[in-house]
Amino acid sequence: MEWNSKGLFATPLIRISINDIEWVKDFFYQNIHSNEETATKNSNNATVAKLKHYHSFENVFTLYDGLEPLRKKIEEAGTFAYQSLLNYTHSGPMKITNAWFNLCNVGGSQIKHSHANNLLSGTLYLHTDQHSNIEFYHPLTTDSLHAELYDEPDYSPNDYGLKYHLREIKIPVNTGDCLFWPSQLRHGYKNNLTPQRLSLSFNMMPSQLNTTYQTI
Ligand SMILES: [Fe+2]
Repeated sequence: MEWNSKGLFATPLIRISINDIEWVKDFFYQNIHSNEETATKNSNNATVAKLKHYHSFENVFTLYDGLEPLRKKIEEAGTFAYQSLLNYTHSGPMKITNAWFNLCNVGGSQIKHSHANNLLSGTLYLHTDQHSNIEFYHPLTTDSLHAELYDEPDYSPNDYGLKYHLREIKIPVNTGDCLFWPSQLRHGYKNNLTPQRLSLSFNMMPSQLNTTYQTI
């Protein structure tokens, strides 16, 4: 049988290394972690409660002037990702709209979720080990708000090396990795094995959209 198959419209996950970030972890423990009032739990569920978010409804870059050098680095990387790699060359530089810290103990999980009302989201990893990872979920086949017919594929490797059947993909992460992805892409992780896993997550918008109007 003669056949061919092309994967159409790939989903981007961009990794950019951000160097010299040890000070950010120190800043977190000295200025933010010590104030428990800034922390929120994902839920009271015993597993999920092992993950705490700090300033998850705010922007740590507007709250703490000391983080300004990091804001510049992430916005520069995000602008490169959005304009140069994703080709949105008609829009302005990327700006962080909100950003927060995530601290997860062993056994914690981040439930599957996405970030609405922004164009680019991401996470900078501040403390990881060989077990650290994040999972992304297929944009067309994870749960949606409308009724769909759903069929369950065989998740074992395809005989022809194709990967259309994958519904979730686990990506290992290292300290200094800054990941960027389209905000609507669902993500999370299960059963964290890294003690004191620390990351900073953020949302971004171009300061000017499509040469038409100002967003921020
Ligand atoms: Fe997230």
